[in-house]
Amino acid sequence: MNRMVVLGTGSALPAKVLSNADLEKMVDTSDEWITTRTGIKNRRIAVQGEETSKLATLAAGRALEMAKLSPDEIDMIIVGTITPDMGMPSCACLVQKELGATRAFALDINAACSGFVFCLDVADKYIKADPDMKILVVGAETLSSRVNWEDRNTCVLFGDGAGACLVTGTTEHRGMLASKLFSDGSLYKLLYMDNVPSMNKNLASQDNDGSYIKMAGRDVFKYAVRSMDMAIMNVLDQVQVSVDDIALFIPHQANIRILKSLGERLGIASEKVYINLDKYGNTSAASIPIALDEANREGRINAGDLVLLCAFGGGFTWGATLFRW
Ligand code: ACO
Repeated sequence: MNRMVVLGTGSALPAKVLSNADLEKMVDTSDEWITTRTGIKNRRIAVQGEETSKLATLAAGRALEMAKLSPDEIDMIIVGTITPDMGMPSCACLVQKELGATRAFALDINAACSGFVFCLDVADKYIKADPDMKILVVGAETLSSRVNWEDRNTCVLFGDGAGACLVTGTTEHRGMLASKLFSDGSLYKLLYMDNVPSMNKNLASQDNDGSYIKMAGRDVFKYAVRSMDMAIMNVLDQVQVSVDDIALFIPHQANIRILKSLGERLGIASEKVYINLDKYGNTSAASIPIALDEANREGRINAGDLVLLCAFGGGFTWGATLFRW
Protein backbone atom coordinates (compact mmCIF):
# COMPACT_ATOMS: atom_id res chain seq x y z
CA MET A 1 0.00 0.00 0.00
CA ASN A 2 1.27 3.47 -0.86
CA ARG A 3 1.44 6.09 1.85
CA MET A 4 2.30 9.76 1.80
CA VAL A 5 5.66 10.65 3.43
CA VAL A 6 7.28 13.97 4.20
CA LEU A 7 10.60 14.48 2.40
CA GLY A 8 11.31 17.96 3.74
CA THR A 9 9.88 20.78 5.84
CA GLY A 10 10.46 24.54 5.82
CA SER A 11 9.11 27.72 7.36
CA ALA A 12 9.44 31.48 7.06
CA LEU A 13 8.53 34.30 9.43
CA PRO A 14 8.60 38.07 8.99
CA ALA A 15 11.42 39.80 10.86
CA LYS A 16 9.21 42.39 12.61
CA VAL A 17 8.19 41.36 16.13
CA LEU A 18 5.07 42.83 17.78
CA SER A 19 5.16 42.22 21.54
CA ASN A 20 2.43 42.46 24.15
CA ALA A 21 4.16 45.62 25.40
CA ASP A 22 3.80 47.11 21.90
CA LEU A 23 0.08 46.24 21.92
CA GLU A 24 -0.36 47.96 25.29
CA LYS A 25 0.43 51.20 23.44
CA MET A 26 -2.12 50.49 20.70
CA VAL A 27 -5.25 49.22 22.53
CA ASP A 28 -6.59 48.97 26.09
CA THR A 29 -4.86 45.72 27.02
CA SER A 30 -2.00 44.39 29.13
CA ASP A 31 0.77 41.85 28.85
CA GLU A 32 -0.75 40.13 31.90
CA TRP A 33 -4.22 39.80 30.26
CA ILE A 34 -2.87 38.52 26.94
CA THR A 35 -0.44 36.08 28.55
CA THR A 36 -2.89 34.54 31.00
CA ARG A 37 -5.86 34.39 28.56
CA THR A 38 -3.94 33.26 25.46
CA GLY A 39 -0.32 32.30 26.22
CA ILE A 40 0.85 34.66 23.46
CA LYS A 41 3.84 36.96 24.11
CA ASN A 42 4.94 37.99 20.61
CA ARG A 43 3.76 37.72 17.03
CA ARG A 44 5.45 38.45 13.68
CA ILE A 45 4.06 41.13 11.39
CA ALA A 46 4.67 41.16 7.63
CA VAL A 47 5.78 44.36 5.92
CA GLN A 48 5.78 45.22 2.22
CA GLY A 49 7.66 42.54 0.31
CA GLU A 50 6.55 39.89 2.81
CA GLU A 51 3.16 39.18 1.25
CA THR A 52 1.61 35.73 1.80
CA SER A 53 3.02 34.37 -1.48
CA LYS A 54 6.51 35.63 -0.62
CA LEU A 55 6.52 33.98 2.82
CA ALA A 56 5.07 30.82 1.25
CA THR A 57 7.82 30.77 -1.39
CA LEU A 58 10.56 31.15 1.24
CA ALA A 59 9.12 28.31 3.33
CA ALA A 60 8.73 26.16 0.20
CA GLY A 61 12.35 26.79 -0.82
CA ARG A 62 13.54 25.56 2.58
CA ALA A 63 11.39 22.41 2.32
CA LEU A 64 12.77 21.74 -1.17
CA GLU A 65 16.32 22.17 0.11
CA MET A 66 15.75 19.62 2.87
CA ALA A 67 14.10 17.24 0.39
CA LYS A 68 17.04 17.75 -2.03
CA LEU A 69 14.63 18.43 -4.87
CA SER A 70 14.57 21.19 -7.46
CA PRO A 71 11.47 23.26 -8.27
CA ASP A 72 11.02 21.58 -11.67
CA GLU A 73 10.51 18.23 -9.92
CA ILE A 74 7.30 19.43 -8.22
CA ASP A 75 4.07 18.11 -9.77
CA MET A 76 1.51 19.99 -7.67
CA ILE A 77 1.38 22.96 -5.27
CA ILE A 78 -1.41 23.32 -2.70
CA VAL A 79 -1.55 26.39 -0.47
CA GLY A 80 -3.88 26.68 2.52
CA THR A 81 -4.62 30.36 3.05
CA ILE A 82 -7.40 32.84 3.80
CA THR A 83 -5.12 35.79 3.07
CA PRO A 84 -3.96 35.35 -0.54
CA ASP A 85 -2.23 38.36 -2.10
CA MET A 86 -5.13 38.77 -4.54
CA GLY A 87 -8.58 37.37 -5.30
CA MET A 88 -7.10 35.99 -8.52
CA PRO A 89 -4.65 34.37 -9.22
CA SER A 90 -4.37 31.93 -6.35
CA CYS A 91 -1.48 32.23 -3.91
CA ALA A 92 -0.33 28.80 -5.14
CA CYS A 93 0.06 30.14 -8.71
CA LEU A 94 2.23 32.98 -7.41
CA VAL A 95 4.37 30.48 -5.47
CA GLN A 96 4.70 28.40 -8.65
CA LYS A 97 5.91 31.49 -10.51
CA GLU A 98 8.34 32.58 -7.77
CA LEU A 99 9.84 29.10 -7.44
CA GLY A 100 9.95 28.46 -11.18
CA ALA A 101 8.10 25.20 -10.61
CA THR A 102 7.14 25.04 -14.27
CA ARG A 103 5.76 21.47 -14.26
CA ALA A 104 3.44 21.96 -11.28
CA PHE A 105 -0.26 22.76 -11.30
CA ALA A 106 -1.31 24.94 -8.40
CA LEU A 107 -4.39 25.67 -6.29
CA ASP A 108 -5.43 27.24 -2.98
CA ILE A 109 -7.65 25.76 -0.30
CA ASN A 110 -9.65 28.00 2.02
CA ALA A 111 -10.26 26.14 5.28
CA ALA A 112 -9.08 28.92 7.62
CA CYS A 113 -6.94 27.66 10.52
CA SER A 114 -7.54 24.05 9.36
CA GLY A 115 -6.08 24.87 5.93
CA PHE A 116 -2.87 22.88 6.24
CA VAL A 117 -4.60 19.74 7.53
CA PHE A 118 -7.13 20.02 4.67
CA CYS A 119 -4.28 20.45 2.12
CA LEU A 120 -2.47 17.37 3.47
CA ASP A 121 -5.63 15.29 3.10
CA VAL A 122 -6.05 16.39 -0.54
CA ALA A 123 -2.35 15.72 -1.28
CA ASP A 124 -2.75 12.23 0.19
CA LYS A 125 -5.57 11.46 -2.25
CA TYR A 126 -3.36 12.47 -5.21
CA ILE A 127 -0.44 10.42 -3.84
CA LYS A 128 -2.72 7.38 -3.51
CA ALA A 129 -3.65 7.81 -7.20
CA ASP A 130 -0.04 8.46 -8.33
CA PRO A 131 2.61 7.65 -5.66
CA ASP A 132 5.47 9.14 -7.69
CA MET A 133 4.02 12.63 -7.48
CA LYS A 134 6.01 15.25 -5.59
CA ILE A 135 3.61 17.67 -3.95
CA LEU A 136 4.39 20.92 -2.19
CA VAL A 137 1.90 21.54 0.65
CA VAL A 138 1.98 25.02 2.19
CA GLY A 139 0.12 26.91 4.92
CA ALA A 140 0.71 30.68 4.65
CA GLU A 141 -1.01 33.76 6.08
CA THR A 142 -0.66 37.48 6.61
CA LEU A 143 -3.62 37.93 8.95
CA SER A 144 -2.20 41.21 10.23
CA SER A 145 -3.68 42.72 7.06
CA ARG A 146 -7.19 41.55 8.04
CA VAL A 147 -7.20 42.36 11.75
CA ASN A 148 -8.90 45.45 13.15
CA TRP A 149 -6.03 46.99 15.11
CA GLU A 150 -8.57 48.88 17.26
CA ASP A 151 -10.37 45.69 18.36
CA ARG A 152 -8.58 44.30 21.41
CA ASN A 153 -10.74 41.16 21.28
CA THR A 154 -9.00 39.98 18.12
CA CYS A 155 -5.87 42.02 17.34
CA VAL A 156 -3.82 40.49 20.16
CA LEU A 157 -4.32 36.95 18.84
CA PHE A 158 -2.95 36.77 15.31
CA GLY A 159 0.41 36.79 13.53
CA ASP A 160 1.94 36.17 10.10
CA GLY A 161 4.10 33.36 8.69
CA ALA A 162 4.32 30.32 6.44
CA GLY A 163 5.25 26.66 6.66
CA ALA A 164 5.67 24.00 3.99
CA CYS A 165 6.14 20.28 3.42
CA LEU A 166 7.36 18.37 0.39
CA VAL A 167 5.52 15.02 0.18
CA THR A 168 5.54 11.93 -2.03
CA GLY A 169 4.51 8.26 -1.89
CA THR A 170 6.26 5.24 -0.32
CA THR A 171 5.53 1.56 0.09
CA GLU A 172 7.43 1.49 3.39
CA HIS A 173 5.50 1.06 6.64
CA ARG A 174 5.43 4.77 7.46
CA GLY A 175 3.82 8.00 6.29
CA MET A 176 0.26 9.26 6.70
CA LEU A 177 -1.73 6.57 8.49
CA ALA A 178 -5.06 8.34 8.90
CA SER A 179 -6.83 11.62 8.28
CA LYS A 180 -10.33 12.95 8.94
CA LEU A 181 -11.87 16.30 8.01
CA PHE A 182 -15.10 17.99 9.15
CA SER A 183 -16.99 21.21 8.34
CA ASP A 184 -20.07 22.93 9.76
CA GLY A 185 -21.01 26.00 7.75
CA SER A 186 -24.12 26.61 9.86
CA LEU A 187 -21.87 28.09 12.58
CA TYR A 188 -19.92 30.44 10.30
CA LYS A 189 -21.12 33.62 12.06
CA LEU A 190 -19.11 32.71 15.15
CA LEU A 191 -15.86 33.38 13.26
CA TYR A 192 -15.76 35.09 9.90
CA MET A 193 -14.22 37.73 7.68
CA ASP A 194 -16.71 39.26 5.26
CA ASN A 195 -16.69 41.97 2.67
CA VAL A 196 -13.55 40.92 0.86
CA PRO A 197 -12.35 44.18 -0.73
CA SER A 198 -13.95 44.49 -4.14
CA MET A 199 -14.08 47.13 -6.85
CA ASN A 200 -17.62 45.94 -7.59
CA LYS A 201 -19.91 48.07 -5.40
CA ASN A 202 -22.83 45.71 -6.15
CA LEU A 203 -21.02 42.97 -4.28
CA ALA A 204 -20.13 45.07 -1.23
CA SER A 205 -21.93 43.98 1.92
CA GLN A 206 -24.73 46.26 3.17
CA ASP A 207 -23.74 46.13 6.85
CA ASN A 208 -20.18 47.05 6.04
CA ASP A 209 -18.16 47.73 9.16
CA GLY A 210 -14.84 46.76 7.63
CA SER A 211 -13.38 43.59 6.17
CA TYR A 212 -11.93 42.42 9.45
CA ILE A 213 -12.00 39.18 11.38
CA LYS A 214 -15.05 38.93 13.64
CA MET A 215 -15.21 36.35 16.37
CA ALA A 216 -17.38 35.13 19.25
CA GLY A 217 -14.33 34.09 21.29
CA ARG A 218 -16.02 32.03 24.01
CA ASP A 219 -18.11 30.02 21.55
CA VAL A 220 -15.10 29.40 19.32
CA PHE A 221 -13.19 28.20 22.37
CA LYS A 222 -15.86 25.63 23.30
CA TYR A 223 -16.35 24.29 19.78
CA ALA A 224 -12.58 24.16 19.19
CA VAL A 225 -11.93 21.92 22.20
CA ARG A 226 -14.87 19.56 21.54
CA SER A 227 -14.30 19.33 17.79
CA MET A 228 -10.55 18.70 17.94
CA ASP A 229 -11.14 16.01 20.58
CA MET A 230 -13.65 14.34 18.22
CA ALA A 231 -11.31 14.51 15.18
CA ILE A 232 -8.38 13.08 17.13
CA MET A 233 -10.39 10.17 18.53
CA ASN A 234 -11.56 9.44 14.98
CA VAL A 235 -8.03 9.12 13.51
CA LEU A 236 -6.73 7.15 16.50
CA ASP A 237 -9.68 4.73 16.18
CA GLN A 238 -9.07 4.31 12.44
CA VAL A 239 -5.68 2.71 13.08
CA GLN A 240 -6.31 1.36 16.60
CA VAL A 241 -3.64 3.35 18.41
CA SER A 242 -4.03 5.04 21.78
CA VAL A 243 -3.12 8.53 22.94
CA ASP A 244 -0.21 7.02 24.88
CA ASP A 245 1.36 5.83 21.61
CA ILE A 246 1.67 9.39 20.29
CA ALA A 247 5.26 10.69 20.39
CA LEU A 248 4.46 14.29 19.44
CA PHE A 249 1.18 16.19 19.16
CA ILE A 250 1.32 19.33 17.00
CA PRO A 251 -1.99 21.20 17.38
CA HIS A 252 -3.06 24.40 15.67
CA GLN A 253 -1.54 27.16 17.81
CA ALA A 254 -4.59 29.25 18.75
CA ASN A 255 -4.62 29.65 22.51
CA ILE A 256 -2.76 27.94 25.36
CA ARG A 257 -6.02 27.43 27.30
CA ILE A 258 -7.63 25.63 24.34
CA LEU A 259 -4.57 23.36 24.15
CA LYS A 260 -4.57 22.71 27.91
CA SER A 261 -8.29 21.83 27.90
CA LEU A 262 -7.79 19.56 24.91
CA GLY A 263 -4.73 17.92 26.47
CA GLU A 264 -6.67 17.21 29.68
CA ARG A 265 -9.64 15.73 27.79
CA LEU A 266 -7.35 13.46 25.77
CA GLY A 267 -5.06 12.62 28.69
CA ILE A 268 -1.95 13.49 26.69
CA ALA A 269 1.23 14.41 28.61
CA SER A 270 2.00 18.11 28.27
CA GLU A 271 5.63 17.44 27.25
CA LYS A 272 4.31 15.66 24.15
CA VAL A 273 2.40 18.78 23.00
CA TYR A 274 4.44 21.10 20.77
CA ILE A 275 3.81 24.76 21.58
CA ASN A 276 5.29 27.85 19.93
CA LEU A 277 2.28 30.21 20.09
CA ASP A 278 4.10 32.31 22.69
CA LYS A 279 6.48 33.40 19.88
CA TYR A 280 4.15 33.70 16.89
CA GLY A 281 0.52 33.94 18.07
CA ASN A 282 -2.16 32.34 15.92
CA THR A 283 -0.89 32.16 12.32
CA SER A 284 -4.01 30.32 11.08
CA ALA A 285 -3.17 27.81 8.30
CA ALA A 286 0.55 28.44 8.82
CA SER A 287 0.67 27.45 12.48
CA ILE A 288 0.93 23.66 12.12
CA PRO A 289 3.53 23.60 9.31
CA ILE A 290 5.68 26.20 11.11
CA ALA A 291 5.54 24.10 14.29
CA LEU A 292 6.17 20.88 12.33
CA ASP A 293 9.24 22.41 10.70
CA GLU A 294 10.61 23.69 14.01
CA ALA A 295 10.02 20.33 15.72
CA ASN A 296 11.67 18.54 12.80
CA ARG A 297 14.74 20.79 12.77
CA GLU A 298 15.05 20.63 16.59
CA GLY A 299 15.23 16.82 16.37
CA ARG A 300 11.95 16.41 18.29
CA ILE A 301 10.73 13.87 15.71
CA ASN A 302 12.49 10.54 15.16
CA ALA A 303 12.01 7.85 12.52
CA GLY A 304 9.07 5.64 13.49
CA ASP A 305 7.45 8.24 15.81
CA LEU A 306 3.69 8.69 15.70
CA VAL A 307 3.04 12.39 15.03
CA LEU A 308 -0.48 13.74 15.43
CA LEU A 309 -1.66 17.02 13.83
CA CYS A 310 -5.00 18.64 14.60
CA ALA A 311 -6.69 21.94 13.71
CA PHE A 312 -9.89 23.92 14.12
CA GLY A 313 -10.88 27.14 12.36
CA GLY A 314 -13.41 29.38 10.70
CA GLY A 315 -16.09 27.73 8.62
CA PHE A 316 -16.22 25.95 11.00
CA THR A 317 -13.62 23.50 9.74
CA TRP A 318 -11.64 20.96 11.71
CA GLY A 319 -9.64 17.79 11.25
CA ALA A 320 -6.77 15.58 12.34
CA THR A 321 -3.91 13.73 10.64
CA LEU A 322 -1.72 10.92 11.96
CA PHE A 323 1.75 10.18 10.57
CA ARG A 324 4.29 7.49 11.31
CA TRP A 325 7.48 9.51 10.68
N1 ACO B 1 -7.17 42.93 26.74
C1 ACO B 1 -7.84 43.20 27.85
N2 ACO B 1 -9.14 42.85 28.02
C2 ACO B 1 -9.73 42.20 27.00
C3 ACO B 1 -9.08 41.91 25.81
C4 ACO B 1 -7.73 42.29 25.70
N3 ACO B 1 -7.00 42.05 24.59
N4 ACO B 1 -9.93 41.25 25.00
C5 ACO B 1 -11.09 41.12 25.65
N5 ACO B 1 -10.98 41.71 26.87
C6 ACO B 1 -11.98 41.83 27.90
C7 ACO B 1 -13.38 41.73 27.37
O1 ACO B 1 -13.80 42.98 26.86
C8 ACO B 1 -14.13 41.33 28.61
O2 ACO B 1 -14.37 42.47 29.39
P1 ACO B 1 -15.74 42.64 30.22
O3 ACO B 1 -15.78 41.48 31.15
O4 ACO B 1 -15.57 43.97 30.86
O5 ACO B 1 -16.81 42.58 29.16
C9 ACO B 1 -13.13 40.44 29.35
O6 ACO B 1 -11.85 40.73 28.80
C10 ACO B 1 -13.42 38.96 29.18
O7 ACO B 1 -13.65 38.71 27.81
P2 ACO B 1 -13.93 37.28 27.28
O8 ACO B 1 -14.12 37.35 25.79
O9 ACO B 1 -15.00 36.63 28.06
O10 ACO B 1 -12.54 36.57 27.61
P3 ACO B 1 -12.14 35.08 27.45
O11 ACO B 1 -11.63 34.58 28.74
O12 ACO B 1 -13.19 34.28 26.74
O13 ACO B 1 -10.89 35.20 26.49
C11 ACO B 1 -10.36 34.89 24.18
C12 ACO B 1 -11.03 35.75 25.20
C13 ACO B 1 -8.87 34.88 24.49
C14 ACO B 1 -10.58 35.46 22.79
C15 ACO B 1 -10.92 33.46 24.29
O14 ACO B 1 -12.31 33.46 24.25
C16 ACO B 1 -10.39 32.57 23.22
O15 ACO B 1 -9.22 32.29 23.14
N6 ACO B 1 -11.27 32.06 22.35
C17 ACO B 1 -10.84 31.27 21.24
C18 ACO B 1 -10.67 32.19 20.10
C19 ACO B 1 -9.57 31.84 19.18
O16 ACO B 1 -8.61 31.19 19.48
N7 ACO B 1 -9.73 32.35 17.96
C20 ACO B 1 -8.77 32.20 16.98
C21 ACO B 1 -9.39 31.78 15.69
S1 ACO B 1 -10.10 30.21 15.81
C22 ACO B 1 -8.92 29.21 16.13
O17 ACO B 1 -7.82 29.45 15.70
C23 ACO B 1 -9.21 28.01 16.92
